[in-house]
Amino acid sequence: MKILSGIQPTGRFHWGNYFGAIRQYIALQGHEQSFYFIADLHALTTVREPHVLRQNVKDAALDLLALGLDPQRATLFRQSDVPETTELTWLLMTIAQMHLLEKCHAFKDKKAKGIAADAGLFTYPVLMAADILIYDSTTVPVGADQIQHVEVTRDLAQRFNTIYGDTLHLPEAYVLDDSAKVPGRDGEKMSKSYDNIIPIFETPKKLGKMIMSIKTDSTSKESSKNPDTCSVFELYKLFATPEAQMTLTERYRAGGMGYGEAKQALYEAAIAHFETAFARRTQLETSPDIVEDILREGAHRARAKAQEVLERVRAACGLLAKPV
Ligand code: TYM
Repeated sequence: MKILSGIQPTGRFHWGNYFGAIRQYIALQGHEQSFYFIADLHALTTVREPHVLRQNVKDAALDLLALGLDPQRATLFRQSDVPETTELTWLLMTIAQMHLLEKCHAFKDKKAKGIAADAGLFTYPVLMAADILIYDSTTVPVGADQIQHVEVTRDLAQRFNTIYGDTLHLPEAYVLDDSAKVPGRDGEKMSKSYDNIIPIFETPKKLGKMIMSIKTDSTSKESSKNPDTCSVFELYKLFATPEAQMTLTERYRAGGMGYGEAKQALYEAAIAHFETAFARRTQLETSPDIVEDILREGAHRARAKAQEVLERVRAACGLLAKPV
């Protein structure tokens, strides 16, 4: 399998990013190709302060390494360090039909809200397609919100192949059912833009406060509760063993337990789960040069593959294979 995925450095990573994507990056490292990148070019559609973007990229790299991404078994790099991607974006843009991009949700949602979208947002899925296709990727671990973009990638690759002959490989999204759409504190999809996130690297005090603020229904402490409709339980399931899940399910159903207790169980499970990552992050913070070296080395490896594929694509559409 040739694995590829990207994540935007638009702020602090949250539990949705972790369970929907990062956990799978780590589980899938060590394959024939395990490429993961920090999507700084995509982030430019929303982050417009250079120092913020630079800091976010550093933090993103630290977070991913602390969470278990191993540079010996995976390639970690910055999207903008592989300029071949932007050339492929243009080549794909020349065959991308407007109606295909008009139905993509990031653009459609903004338009529906009456917010003026720029061309970067409109063509965002084409850049994402180039990210995937430039490494001949077969498997793209993502959360549910990115499935549409992987479908667009397949459509674009197919159309390119129909016009120019078999050149690009069709990838598939890799989505885990139980964590494809992690809920936020308000029960909606966890997302920075909904202001409902729970960050991965948060101080215990703030984390406790955030967990206590998760929305629950008004069932009294004495009454039996339904774990299947409760966001606290849905989040707890992501951390807990099947046995621990069963124990809490029984306590929900039996009554006599307030939501505060379920939240406390969630808090403890989260602290235990990320304990090692916290320690590793603190250690990594002391050696920023190592992180920069990892990104540079990653870009070097990724570029070699990107150049090979771009040459094939250039030749297919009648450009010189190697630019002079
Ligand atoms: P981004 O940065 O918004 O999110 C990174 C990853 O986190 C997943 N995710 C979630 N999964 C489950 N539940 C949630 N609440 C949740 N919130 C976020 C996302 O599905 C994603 O997998 N366009 C991409 C970045 C990208 C990319 C690519 C991904 C650029 N090029 C090529 C894959 C392949 C994005 O904005 O993800």
